[in-house]
Amino acid sequence: MTHRLALLGATALSLLPFGAFAQPKELVLYCSVNEEWCRAQSEAFMRETGINVLMTRKSSGETYAQIKAEEGQPRGDVWWGGTGDPHLQAAQEDLTEAYESPVLAELQPWARAQAETSGFKTVGVYAGALGFGYNSTMVTENPPACWADLLDERYADDIQVANPNSSGTAYTMLATMVQLMGEDEAFAYLAKLHANINQYTKSGSAPIRAAATGESAIGIVFMHDAVAETVSGAPIVTVAPCEGTGYEVGSMSLIKGGPNPEAAKIWYDWALSPAAQEIGATAKSYQVPSNSSAATPPEAPKLADIKLIDYDFAKYGSSETRAALLARWDAEIGALPK
Ligand code: F6P
Repeated sequence: MTHRLALLGATALSLLPFGAFAQPKELVLYCSVNEEWCRAQSEAFMRETGINVLMTRKSSGETYAQIKAEEGQPRGDVWWGGTGDPHLQAAQEDLTEAYESPVLAELQPWARAQAETSGFKTVGVYAGALGFGYNSTMVTENPPACWADLLDERYADDIQVANPNSSGTAYTMLATMVQLMGEDEAFAYLAKLHANINQYTKSGSAPIRAAATGESAIGIVFMHDAVAETVSGAPIVTVAPCEGTGYEVGSMSLIKGGPNPEAAKIWYDWALSPAAQEIGATAKSYQVPSNSSAATPPEAPKLADIKLIDYDFAKYGSSETRAALLARWDAEIGALPK
């Protein structure tokens, strides 16, 4: 009986107009990792599925703001990559869709925790620790090893970090300082550090590119972004700060009401697979992948060897905390004269 029904189903399907059940044709991807990885990932997906990817690369905070601005009339389907905090904020604000991928069971506990915290509206795709890198031809004596060392006046105008409104990296730094020191102490630290900052960039990894070219001596970035510059031949030394440091769970979310929901789920399941997660290393991206069976690139900083804080993603990814910390940063740090 089941068999006959199945056959009938097949005949009925063949009578439907051509294309009614065809593979979706297009996917609008908001990508928040480095441009090179965004391109490699989109191209691999197009090759494997035939689905055309329209990709835009923007930093994590900027992408969150775009999705918020498009609420009710979303133009994007998937937000892939970028730090987890703004993905969690988007989930709380109902800008993203719950989805329990069949691949969830294969993921590392920290990636599944991101899904559980958000009611399955986001999920971890990679992890990486925050730190800094310095140009060893410019910083030759007593190189910095700790967050406290970055306050040394010999680094006046020599350090770059991004703006935490646009950049998830810089927001991770802000939230890390608050968790390491307490909020008032953290803002006092950032106000002192301001004397040594030559520029707050839009993108999180720009500061280490500036250090690689010698425009600036030190960049506060995710450690994997500093390692990528060393692998490319720049004289960059990567530092895991001695006091301990925060980390990101780079995440992925389906945008609520996006124009191509079927294509979005095909991307989502694929992006969690080991093969898709191994593409990062081919684009000099040395994060730790979230699928337990995906190979971790040998260049990836070893999280087990780094003194990581117990980063409270639920708190620092909540709308209330993220909005309050960014408003305080604008008032107390962003507004300081240069
Ligand atoms: O792709 C590099 C990377 O550092 C990711 O690990 C991270 O999620 C993202 O960039 C953050 O970028 P931004 O700070 O520009 O939001």
